[in-house]
Amino acid sequence: MFIKFLWIIAISTIAVYGHPIAEAIPASTVQYWFSQRIDHFANNNGTWQQQYLVNATFYKAGGPIYVSTPGELPVSSRYVDNVHVTSLAQKTNGLLVTIEHRFFGSSNPMPDLSGPSLQSLTIENVLEDFASFVRTAKLSPAKVFPVPVSPNASVVFFGGSYSGNIAAWMRAKYPKLVAGAWASSAISYSRLEYYQLDQGFGRHLRALGCAEEFSQAIDAVDEILISGNKARIATLQQELGVPSLTPQDTAGLLSGLGITFSLSPVSTTEDLVEKHVCSFFNSTNQEPIAAYAAVIKNAIKQTRMTQESLIKMGDTSYGIDDYSLGQVNRVWYYMGCKWFGNWQVAPPPVTRLPRYRSRLVNLSYFEPNCQAKFGKGVATPVDVAAYNRKWFTIINGVSNIYFTSGSLDIWHESTVLSAAGLLLKRLNNSSAFVINGATHVQDLNIDQPSDLASVRISRAIGDALVSKWI
Ligand SMILES: *[C@@H]1O[C@H](CO)[C@@H](O)[C@H](O)[C@H]1NC(C)=O
Ligand SMILES: *[C@@H]1O[C@H](CO)[C@@H](O)[C@H](O)[C@H]1NC(C)=O
Ligand SMILES: *[C@@H]1O[C@H](CO)[C@@H](O)[C@H](O)[C@H]1NC(C)=O
Ligand SMILES: *[C@@H]1O[C@H](CO)[C@@H](O)[C@H](O)[C@H]1NC(C)=O
Ligand SMILES: *[C@@H]1O[C@H](CO)[C@@H](O)[C@H](O)[C@H]1NC(C)=O
Ligand SMILES: *[C@@H]1O[C@H](CO)[C@@H](O)[C@H](O)[C@H]1NC(C)=O
Ligand SMILES: *[C@@H]1O[C@H](CO)[C@@H](O)[C@H](O)[C@H]1NC(C)=O
Repeated sequence: MFIKFLWIIAISTIAVYGHPIAEAIPASTVQYWFSQRIDHFANNNGTWQQQYLVNATFYKAGGPIYVSTPGELPVSSRYVDNVHVTSLAQKTNGLLVTIEHRFFGSSNPMPDLSGPSLQSLTIENVLEDFASFVRTAKLSPAKVFPVPVSPNASVVFFGGSYSGNIAAWMRAKYPKLVAGAWASSAISYSRLEYYQLDQGFGRHLRALGCAEEFSQAIDAVDEILISGNKARIATLQQELGVPSLTPQDTAGLLSGLGITFSLSPVSTTEDLVEKHVCSFFNSTNQEPIAAYAAVIKNAIKQTRMTQESLIKMGDTSYGIDDYSLGQVNRVWYYMGCKWFGNWQVAPPPVTRLPRYRSRLVNLSYFEPNCQAKFGKGVATPVDVAAYNRKWFTIINGVSNIYFTSGSLDIWHESTVLSAAGLLLKRLNNSSAFVINGATHVQDLNIDQPSDLASVRISRAIGDALVSKWI
């Protein structure tokens, strides 16, 4: 009570002595909408509303604007309040804004997600949406921000995973608008069959000491799934606690459940892949399938999946005619079919690599859905080489990008930091850093006492770079 009273005196004193109290800063949960064209490059004048959120608490005149997009996820105030860049904004008087990506969350250019409706989902349109916002933010900040912001503020884009691509592309395509980009685990280089994801998971299991056991269990499960013996397959499904789908759909479901914890951050106190995968391979005379069943059942329990959500996850024809809005997986599938492939398959037999998912999870598990879901206008296979020529090449030799990736990230091989060597020919005042022992986008999470030393180092490097760019 007393403390509150003192605060009131302090505040009113400032008011009396003539420092105008800035209008209250709206909470970062307040939704704002920016008008965008459905197609920036076609003769189509239709518009739609793109959602964004702002945290202006740390902003002071002349400070930079930190822009992000959650990519395939809906916006939430977490992206401005509780990320590493929040602390950077605090240090640099910056404003934080996070903008939803077209066709995700509540930002829908069209009334549904049919193939024809998704035609304006092109990378060019996605980037131009963000560029239009940034142009307005620089030229007429009062049109987009709830507090006074200086014109021509420096803009830094940051993002992780797919939105890491966007950060890097924004710097590459709009260098006059975007001063620099922090691209964490950016999925930069595409492959039609991205079996390197499976191998990345194997790398994490190997670091924990259960890769061989896990891979033996996969082989034992495969032996049953390809046996054609319905009774054996039904018994297996019962043991694993999964619905009775076709062998290939069962394999797809299991591959998803197997990597449930692979994206979770590794800290000095916890590694969820250890806790929820390797810890079940704990005895030498254990049946591989029994330990694997414990992993799968536990993953279902931890994620609270219902039988229906399990069917949806494995059955590739589920909801094929459902065009309703708000289906993240449907839009993401479209991007796989139309843009970059990256199908999360088992290593093809010719590679002779150990497998951490069933061999039934191959291209024919994924690809037929492209035309089934989106129509004949979607050609398969997608031309990944053409995609890379355009969207991988564009980030080559661009200045002021900071690329990071965790060594245990399942997406590591798609980043420019691929273990096979730096994929970019020229960095040209951009930087790249492997975060040893980390998984996906750990550097962009808010700082925690239990963070790995490597994560702290990666952030310190990023902070120093950003302060040079702004
Ligand atoms: C778009 O707007 C321009 C200018 O107002 C107009 O000339 C054109 O006909 C419009 N196009 C469509 C497809 O509505
Ligand atoms: C901005 O983020 C900080 C740090 O999380 C938080 O304390 C503050 O309330 C946020 N500002 C707004 C306006 O919500
Ligand atoms: C902002 O930058 C533009 C282009 O460089 C320039 O024409 C304009 O005068 C600047 N505006 C302010 C307020 O500095
Ligand atoms: C070993 O794994 C089994 C499940 O396969 C589990 O029930 C048991 O608690 C584990 N034991 C230890 C010591 O972690
Ligand atoms: C995928 O696996 C199935 C089952 O083994 C097989 O019939 C099919 O030919 C494979 N497809 C590809 C593209 O390898
Ligand atoms: C280096 O980056 C700058 C700015 O992005 C660009 O103009 C220049 O062409 C690049 N140089 C090389 C050699 O790629
Ligand atoms: C890199 O940055 C330094 C310092 O800002 C500058 O002197 C140099 O010309 C830049 N090099 C390229 C290739 O842009």
